[in-house]
Amino acid sequence: MSIADDPDRAPARSHLYAMGLTDEDMRRPKIGIASTWTGTMPCNLTHRELAAHVAEGVRQAGGTPMEFNTIAVSDNLTMGTPGMRASLVSREVIADSIELMGRAHQFDAIVAIVGCDKTAPGAIMALSRLDVPSVVLYSGSMMPGRWRDRDVTIQDMWEALGERSVGKLTQDDVDDLARHACPGAGTCAAQYTANTMSGICDFLGLAPFGVGDIPAVAPAKNDAARLVGEIVMDALARDARPSRVITEASLHNAIVSVAAMGGSTNSVLHLLAIAREAGVPLAIDDIDRICHQVPIVAGVKPAGPHSAADLWRAGGTSLVVRRLLDAGLLREDVVLVDGRTLAEVAGEAREEPGQEVVRTVAAPVKGPGALAVLRGSLAPDGCVLKLGGKPDFVFSGPARVFDGEEACFAAIQARQIIDGDVVIVRYEGPAGGPGMREMLSITGALVGQGLDVALVTDGRFSGVSHGLVIGHVAPEAYRGGPLALVQNGDTVVVDSAARTLDLRVDPAELDLRARAWSRPERPVERGVLAKYVATVGSASDGAVTI
Ligand code: FES
Repeated sequence: MSIADDPDRAPARSHLYAMGLTDEDMRRPKIGIASTWTGTMPCNLTHRELAAHVAEGVRQAGGTPMEFNTIAVSDNLTMGTPGMRASLVSREVIADSIELMGRAHQFDAIVAIVGCDKTAPGAIMALSRLDVPSVVLYSGSMMPGRWRDRDVTIQDMWEALGERSVGKLTQDDVDDLARHACPGAGTCAAQYTANTMSGICDFLGLAPFGVGDIPAVAPAKNDAARLVGEIVMDALARDARPSRVITEASLHNAIVSVAAMGGSTNSVLHLLAIAREAGVPLAIDDIDRICHQVPIVAGVKPAGPHSAADLWRAGGTSLVVRRLLDAGLLREDVVLVDGRTLAEVAGEAREEPGQEVVRTVAAPVKGPGALAVLRGSLAPDGCVLKLGGKPDFVFSGPARVFDGEEACFAAIQARQIIDGDVVIVRYEGPAGGPGMREMLSITGALVGQGLDVALVTDGRFSGVSHGLVIGHVAPEAYRGGPLALVQNGDTVVVDSAARTLDLRVDPAELDLRARAWSRPERPVERGVLAKYVATVGSASDGAVTI
């Protein structure tokens, strides 16, 4: 019985009448529209407008839309500050808050509008828990900025700080770049975490191919949002719920998409967390195995020279589907939320004549291996190397150990890091940080100074980060992982072909160090971060809190 017809729900009806709903509206399917709008950053600025267009599409297709909001944390604005500790934690809060709204208001279906990095994984986790027919709408990338006759993104901004420290740029140059790097609303403008997650939403089957690619400020985005309102009604009719969409096959395709587009290391955490919520077995080593088979075919920064807008103009993720299907790299036994098959998506893909952004698998941008999972004496439970399609290599060097990001950044700025060092940044893990801060200020400074070093941390990296970076080291230092026992001058060896990260210290010496080690003080005592420290698990399991 609908709320319009249940005699005992008259008090509830009175509030719906107060909102302008009619009896007929109450009899229609109730579609939740979860927006992650915040006015604190450009990434999600368009969400309220998009929500209105989704609502219009829902109404036209016979549903009753109900909008609600949740939070979002800007990675770029919090980077290099204590505020970055809130970033990964926000994924859990987004998931929990959308889930709670879904449980409370019992929507028949949901559209989740996502943008900045943690919003997509948080939303997918919630949709999976609720398991009602659902569509994800990615609000879209920012256009690249223009500075000194070249396209620039936030990546150039961070690397400019390193270039300033070696005298290649002045502070005036950096300030001028800051005024030009980000021209308007949208997510960071290349294949960083947000756009990587958009690709995952497409390839998982939760977002209609061709919608997420449209940049945030393109007029076509509002039309696409209306279409999403219609698609969710169709998904409701077809019962396209996440438990039918998120499967072992669709997760395989999502991992392939990360590899093929040179995506962010954060995707490893998020894929593991999504799989866990969906009840689909996925281990961190599965991600390595799949990435190992897929070359980088989309030349988007940081793997290539192009922006996300360039990828959209070239043909977008639909064109990437065509390339990957042609090479037999995708599983076709999947359900897409708009009812199409992958073959139909590939067939409908348009390719801009002469485009150079999306290559073929036979002649890729870079070889296989966007990401690799290493294990070894320094990371018994695994860690993630941003391989970026580089050929196999061995890197061996003396450890330079820092407890926390700030100490490391100060040493880099003071020119105390030299070529060949293995820079260790520890006590930045899920519990020890807490919140696994991203080390973009450090990687940007290292790249800007042109240093040939390796960086190893139990924290994370921004999708912007590149160079020889290894994160998510597990177990983390705070929980007594071997990273806690490293001392300055110890030899650390990275072997990408063998997939190993080893600390070359005599086991007896390590045993002595382990006995002398004691866990540092709890990093926080109160509030949401303290709750997080008490509940968060290993990065190798997705750093989930249940
Ligand atoms: Fe929001 Fe980059 S900081 S997408």
